[in-house]
Amino acid sequence: MRIAFFSTKSYDKEFFKKTDSSHKIVFYETALNKDTANLTKDFDCVCAFVNDKINKEVIKELKENGVKLIALRCAGFNNVDLQAAKEANIKVVRVPAYSPHAVAEHAVSMLLTLNRKTHKAYNRIRENNFSLERLTGFDLYEKTVGVIGTGLIGSIFCKIMLGFGCKVIAHDLFPNAELAKAGVIYTELDSLLSSSNIISLHCPLMPETKYIINKSNFDKMKNGVMLINTSRGGLINTKDAIAALKSKKLGYLGIDVYEQEEKLFFNDLSEVIIEDDLIARLMSFPNVLITSHQGFFTKEALQQIASITLQNISDIENGKACDNEIA
Ligand code: NAI
Repeated sequence: MRIAFFSTKSYDKEFFKKTDSSHKIVFYETALNKDTANLTKDFDCVCAFVNDKINKEVIKELKENGVKLIALRCAGFNNVDLQAAKEANIKVVRVPAYSPHAVAEHAVSMLLTLNRKTHKAYNRIRENNFSLERLTGFDLYEKTVGVIGTGLIGSIFCKIMLGFGCKVIAHDLFPNAELAKAGVIYTELDSLLSSSNIISLHCPLMPETKYIINKSNFDKMKNGVMLINTSRGGLINTKDAIAALKSKKLGYLGIDVYEQEEKLFFNDLSEVIIEDDLIARLMSFPNVLITSHQGFFTKEALQQIASITLQNISDIENGKACDNEIA
């Protein structure tokens, strides 16, 4: 197929170019949205990522241009109007899992960094400041870790935290019997919120989970709780998180995802005035750690993304059943 590849970064090019396939790929750095959909003329397929906006208007133009397939090189598909794609007879495929270990391990690295303040120690020592003042952390051993969503990523996160000797409690609509056997205790959301020292979010963003972490749920948490979000920004009401940080209810916040990340993440904006006042306020807190949606970002995951995406496209081209088809 002729593929128009959007939101290309150097690492996408590297991994897709070295993966064998018969497809012809044209790499565009720009994101796919209503202003760039015209670039898809005479392509059979578009390859898109998390912050490409594939709404009804874009899908209409894709259809007019001859596109028959939207190949997402990510797991989430909240940025695609699936109904509109179906009506336009455009198939949508995705990569449901590339490395759940990568994301779970990143959540743990955020947790450890916030707790032991490694990022501050690194900077201090580069300036010959060998003081330990204000670097105090806490033992993870025997602390209660609450995990919301125990699918692929959440269950790996649970197992890692069990390895630290934590008490791991979890909330999921579909409890996992194997995890329960390994020592994870399933509980209702309210009880998880009120008894956890650390809470990590691993459920998808859906209408039911939008702002699952809001003022009323912050009020139920322990004072000084640590919150980690490597899932989707819309799970947390950012304004409420800022209020919780100011009142010290929230003692630590680690986010790899952010509600309005599409205007910021994956771009070098070091010479640009940031207009988003919410992220600017978040960045001002000493106990907030932000990474730019890099949870997935390991060599193993990038290789898997390239291989599975190209295989999905070949399957559709050859009329084979594709398990990763979502519409
Ligand atoms: P998954 O589908 O395997 O697991 C999600 C789990 O959440 C399921 O067990 C489901 O039953 C549960 N769930 C659904 N609604 C719930 C609710 N209301 N309350 C509690 N649990 C609920 O998904 P996976 O692969 O573990 O991914 C989780 C999320 O991680 C994805 O939705 C995605 O947003 C995010 N992600 C982030 C990446 C990053 O780079 N930071 C990369 C890949 C995924």
